[in-house]
Amino acid sequence: MQTLTITRPDDWHLHLRDGPAMKDALAHTSAVFARAIVMPNLKPPVTRTDQARAYRERIVSALAPGHRFEPLMTLYLTDATSAAEIRLARDSGLVHGVKLYPAGATTNSESGVTGLDRCDPALQAMQELDLALLVHGETTDPAVDVFDRERAFIDTVLIPLRRRFPALRIVFEHITTRDAVQYVGEADDRLAATITAHHLRYNRNALFVGPDGRNGIRPHAYCLPVIKREEHRQALLRAATGGSPKFFLGTDSAPHPVREKESACGCAGCFTAPVALSMYAECFEQAGALERLEAFASFHGADFYRLPRNRERITLQRSPWQPPSELPFGAERVAPLGAGENFAWKIAN
Ligand code: NCD
Ligand code: ZN
Repeated sequence: MQTLTITRPDDWHLHLRDGPAMKDALAHTSAVFARAIVMPNLKPPVTRTDQARAYRERIVSALAPGHRFEPLMTLYLTDATSAAEIRLARDSGLVHGVKLYPAGATTNSESGVTGLDRCDPALQAMQELDLALLVHGETTDPAVDVFDRERAFIDTVLIPLRRRFPALRIVFEHITTRDAVQYVGEADDRLAATITAHHLRYNRNALFVGPDGRNGIRPHAYCLPVIKREEHRQALLRAATGGSPKFFLGTDSAPHPVREKESACGCAGCFTAPVALSMYAECFEQAGALERLEAFASFHGADFYRLPRNRERITLQRSPWQPPSELPFGAERVAPLGAGENFAWKIAN
């Protein structure tokens, strides 16, 4: 197969940032994806509907000429989120989910939830109004090994939460383990999960090896939840390519200035917007499931969020290419993940 034409995909988990760098990040997404669920972890976070509306307007104004793209906004859940705010969000029609960041779990999560029982009024309202909860599924207990934090989250947070709010619809974001694949797979259809391109492409060895095979620490491959060992990558591949509507595309593309990634305390987040669809295509092809890419990338997420599927089409072409090592990012530079690696599929213009 030399070309692959599919319904234009959506990205169900994306960080666009704000300010002058936003338009640079956005252009890579809007060139490919029709819509994206936009994460609210700005500084300060997007906790109210009026902030989400204003952020949405800034995104739309920053779109490159000729690009058609719809930002799907989210609110950032805090201990103080009220039921009234949830109602406002629902009524606005522009907020499509509420994001749970356990406080301290990841980048810009300082204002996150310190105990989910504090969020009962908001969760109750979300359940009633059918507004989805999007979860960063990692425990923040420092005693738990970083590589085990997703599994611990299932046991200590997700299972009790779903017992208390059985009708609440939940997206387990950027799952990284066999445990999460199994848990989501066995749950009812109110629970779904997104899977990133980088968790499908790399296992944790990629954190410690250069493209030339030399040892070294690779800050651009560091994200949260951190990439896991090969058996988990294999489970994610089976989930993504298996055809279940519970699993769909969410890049978690999370740009940071090169300066902040390449430091003594490099921050978490991989910028994958320019490479994500190529990465997914290659993973699906290697799994012998290229014909299932379209449903994963363009149907399952829209169906879960109860939005119409896109009508436009996009074509991928088999054509070897390498992402550039750096790209503009406002006054800074950002390094796409996979820079210097060979990719087989390119978006045809
Ligand atoms: C994200 C970011 O940089 O905003 N980082 C990441 O490693 N994925 C936050 C997040 O989604 O966890
Ligand atoms: Zn994210």
